[in-house]
Amino acid sequence: MIEYEAVAEQLRSQLSEKRYLHSIGVSRTAACLARQFGADVQKAALAGLLHDCARALPDEQLLSIAEEWGLGIDRIERETPVLLHAKLGSLLAAREYGVNDREICRAIAFHTTGGPGMTLLDEIIYLADFIEPSRSFPGVEELRNLAEESLHGALLAAYNQSVIYILHNGGLLHPDTVAGRNELVMQNRRELGSGGSLDE
Ligand SMILES: [Fe+2]
Ligand SMILES: [Fe+2]
Repeated sequence: MIEYEAVAEQLRSQLSEKRYLHSIGVSRTAACLARQFGADVQKAALAGLLHDCARALPDEQLLSIAEEWGLGIDRIERETPVLLHAKLGSLLAAREYGVNDREICRAIAFHTTGGPGMTLLDEIIYLADFIEPSRSFPGVEELRNLAEESLHGALLAAYNQSVIYILHNGGLLHPDTVAGRNELVMQNRRELGSGGSLDE
């Protein structure tokens, strides 16, 4: 495993102080969640630390680098280039920070939209990004409380918050967000043994 402190120093030179502190917050929160839910704590800490490593790149650069590196850019990403910081961050983590762990890289790639088929580590990074200590949006305390009890309960609430925020701001919903949220709803219903139709 690469040296956490060295990675943190390198990252610090690339991000604003606020975003760097957010990254440290995600890293610590992800490590706690990993301990709580049985994931690899070191991987969670490193993925959390680096999840926003491409976040400071302006839209034009996100698009041009994504094109240069042959990343597929979908229609929603073309309209909302900031989404690309997740996929690009995943590649930057490997190329610039020496992370050669696929699980860490994919967790970084999933952290903005979420998506179906997420691993435990993917879910932890997605959730930690919402609930790390410097986050202060309405409802964040409820998410933190939910995370004490149920990873999937908190994850679904985080998806819902994200969808509501996007709708409220007239944004575009990425299909991966919709698919990830729907998968979780179905999974939660199966776990609760409910058919879950609205008119039941
Ligand atoms: Fe991000
Ligand atoms: Fe973030």
